[in-house]
Amino acid sequence: MLLAIVLSCGPSVDRDLPPAYRDVAVPPGLMTSKEARARGAALFRQHCSLCHGVLGDGHGIRSEALSTRPRDFTDPSWRSETSPRHVYFAIREGVRDTPMPAWKSLDEAESWDLVAYVLSLGDRDAAKR
Ligand code: HEC
Repeated sequence: MLLAIVLSCGPSVDRDLPPAYRDVAVPPGLMTSKEARARGAALFRQHCSLCHGVLGDGHGIRSEALSTRPRDFTDPSWRSETSPRHVYFAIREGVRDTPMPAWKSLDEAESWDLVAYVLSLGDRDAAKR
């Protein structure tokens, strides 16, 4: 019974997400798609690098003035603790009590491309794919 509940909620790291995000379908092949990563990189430079840094390391030119500093997306330990759905949720809804806004101006496909890019930053094998 308990197992059924756990399984129905998807990967454990996604369990704390609101239902609409907990069960959202990650586009098939997203995390190994070079094309998605490249599109995400272009969007990141345009919309995100000001705070998150052109390298995604958290050192954007605006980062020092923020009440909460952006984390380092190139740190493999962050990558291993999060998930595509978590990153998608943060992009779509923003992060409460931080300067991270909800990106309603980006559509769902663009948001997933950003997920692919951001999660490739701490993945040493991503460049080989
Ligand atoms: C105004 C500055 C700012 C901009 C612009 C911005 N962010 Fe953020 N972002 C933050 C801050 C501050 C946080 C909270 C600290 C953290 O988790 O890095 C955050 C958090 C996040 C997180 C959550 C990380 C986690 O595990 O909790 C993701 C993912 C993210 N941002 C992606 C993006 C993407 C993608 C863009 C561009 C579409 C973007 N951000 C634009 C400031 C910004």
